[in-house]
Amino acid sequence: MNYQAYAHIYDDEYRDYTEDIQFYVRWARRCAAPALELGCGTGRILLALAEAGCPVWGLELCEPMLQRAQEKLAKLPAHVAETVRLVQGDMRDFDLGQEFGLIYLPFREFMHLASEDDQLNCLDAIHRHLTPNGRLIINLYDMDLVTLSQRSESNVPLYRQHGGDYVDPRNGQKVFLSSASHYKPATQTLHEERFYDRVDEQGAVVERRMVTITQRWFFRWEMHHLLHRANFRVHELYGGYDRQPVGEMGSEMIFIARPANEKELQSEVEWLENKLARIRTSKKRS
Ligand SMILES: C[S@@+](CC[C@H](N)C(=O)[O-])C[C@H]1O[C@@H](n2cnc3c(N)ncnc32)[C@H](O)[C@@H]1O
Repeated sequence: MNYQAYAHIYDDEYRDYTEDIQFYVRWARRCAAPALELGCGTGRILLALAEAGCPVWGLELCEPMLQRAQEKLAKLPAHVAETVRLVQGDMRDFDLGQEFGLIYLPFREFMHLASEDDQLNCLDAIHRHLTPNGRLIINLYDMDLVTLSQRSESNVPLYRQHGGDYVDPRNGQKVFLSSASHYKPATQTLHEERFYDRVDEQGAVVERRMVTITQRWFFRWEMHHLLHRANFRVHELYGGYDRQPVGEMGSEMIFIARPANEKELQSEVEWLENKLARIRTSKKRS
């Protein structure tokens, strides 16, 4: 997504989206401090954690998004602000010189990683930064297959009105959201163009802005295997922030994973050694 162009409208669009915040606050309280948010954006969740007394670091690629977070951080009381560290960096390759009891990727951040290499590099970097008893939380969309197939049937994008219209607090003007999206099954990517139409008091459109977003789609067991391959184990899986079971179509997938322990890794090493031995034996025979 082009977050450079998005930074100035992000907080207006998601001002009322708070349903995930307490979920992460609860996990941050359960895990050893500090927590780390990858792709922390303008600090929507991260700053709420800090205000709830949870020390937290944020890593963010896009400078204007991080700048917004820094401006908001500067307005917090000093004793809260000093528990926060904001770092510009890439979640596919980072070295913060610090271990974390919780690393979380909320609001479908992992879906920005299109290639298998990017996904595995990110999971590897997370593994290096997580304490042995730490937790990794990854939130993904769980969109129903009917909607996905509607969006992939033709090259004509499906236009729909968002529920996210908002009022610009600076001038009271309404901003209407709509989008065109197209899902490509072959690459499991959904490409979306979002339009932000600012209207005046008479309802006339006075400005149209567009941002584009491409997200890599993940299915439940694909993610399960990916985590396993990166030496994590799925500890819990939820379909929403009230910890409801996964599978209620159109909702969320929230993976809670932990690093594999020594015994689990040892049994994988033995499995691979056996496999290698069999390959070597059959090579000798042929
Ligand atoms: C959907 S926004 C979410 C922001 C924030 N976590 C929230 O919940 O409001 C995704 C964020 O991930 C950031 N991002 C995307 N790719 C990234 C990468 N490779 N490394 C670090 N941040 C990245 C974007 O710049 C953007 O700020």
